[in-house]
Amino acid sequence: MARRARPLSAGGPASGGRQALRLVRRAARGGSARRDSAAASDHPSQWNRPHVRTLAIASGKGGVGKSNLAANLAVALGEMGARVLLVDADLAQANLDLLLGLNPRFDLQHVLLGDKSLEEIVVHGPLGVSLIPASSGVPEIADLDDYRLECLLRGLGNLEADVDLILIDVASGTSRQVLSFCLAASEVVVVTTPEMPAFSDAYGLMKLLHHQGLSTPPHLLVNMAGSAEEAEETAHRIGLVARRFLRMTLEPWEPVPFDSAIPRAVRLQEPVLTSFPHSPAAAAYRAVAERLWNAVLPPEPSLEREQPQRLEA
Ligand SMILES: Nc1ncnc2c1ncn2[C@@H]1O[C@H](COP(=O)(O)OP(=O)(O)OP(=O)(O)O)[C@@H](O)[C@H]1O
Ligand SMILES: [Mg+2]
Repeated sequence: MARRARPLSAGGPASGGRQALRLVRRAARGGSARRDSAAASDHPSQWNRPHVRTLAIASGKGGVGKSNLAANLAVALGEMGARVLLVDADLAQANLDLLLGLNPRFDLQHVLLGDKSLEEIVVHGPLGVSLIPASSGVPEIADLDDYRLECLLRGLGNLEADVDLILIDVASGTSRQVLSFCLAASEVVVVTTPEMPAFSDAYGLMKLLHHQGLSTPPHLLVNMAGSAEEAEETAHRIGLVARRFLRMTLEPWEPVPFDSAIPRAVRLQEPVLTSFPHSPAAAAYRAVAERLWNAVLPPEPSLEREQPQRLEA
C-alpha cells in the first residue's frame, strides 16, 4: 500500500496547565469524578497533535496480550507504510524493547531524571517503527507522582516526531497512571480474553474510564479466543453489559486467536509478524492494523475527478 504520510508539527498553546493538572488529579481520585468529556479531550498530550491518532492499549487484567498487540500492530502498520511511534507506558514492567528485539541504551527513567529528552531516547525498530522505551523494575518510575506524570504526558504531547500514529502500551489495571494515559489518548482499545476474570476486569476498566470522562467509547479486542464463535460470544456479552449499564456502544475489533506462534515469537524476541508471518495471529494483527490505517488515511480521490474528461463528438 502506498505510504501517505502526514507530518506532525510541534508547538502549541502556552496555557492550560491548570486544566491538565486538574485532570491528572481527578484521575488520581479514582472513579469519583463526574463524566466530563470536554476536559478529557483537552488533555495535554492531545493539544498539539489533535490530528494524529493516538491509541492507548489497555486491559483490566494482566497478561491478556496488550504488549504483543502493540508491538505487532506497529509492525503490521509499518508494513503498510505507516510511521508508528510506540510508547511503552507500562512503567513497572516495560517489555516492548524485548518483544521487538531492540536494545535501548536510554529509556524513560533517564528522561524523568532529567538526563535525556524524549527525542534522545527514541529507538528505531523494524519497518519504520519507533519506540519510546521504559525501564522495568524501577519502583520510583513505576509510581510517578502527579507532577512528573503530567510532565511526561506533556512531553509526549510536544514530542517532535514525524509519525502517523501513536500506540501506547499501558500497564494492566485501573491505576491513576493507566487512567491518565487512556484519557490522554484519542482512543482506547480494551483487550480481554474470553475468560471470566479478564472479561469482568475489562468491564471494570471501561466503567471507570466512562466515569472519568472518556470522550469516545473504547474499542474491544478479544485475544486468545479458541474460536471465532467464542470471540463473538465474549464481545457480545461485554457489549450487552456496557450498553445496559453504561449506555455505551462498544466497537468490537477483529479478534486475535489463541496461537502458539506468539509465545514462540516472544522467545525469539521477534514480533510474530516477522517470525511467523503466515500464522493465524499475524493475519489477525494485520486485519486490525488495516482497520486502523484505513481510518488514518485521507479518503481516496474520486476516480471520476481523476479521469480526463472525454471530448464529446
Ligand atoms: N493470541 C495469543 N495466543 C497465544 N498466546 C498469547 C497470545 N497473546 C499473548 N499471548 C501470550 O500471553 C503472554 C502475555 O502476553 P503480553 O505480554 O502481550 O500480555 P500483556 O497484557 O502485555 O501482559 P502485562 O499485563 O503483564 O503487561 C505472553 O506470554 C504471550 O506469549
Ligand atoms: Mg504488557
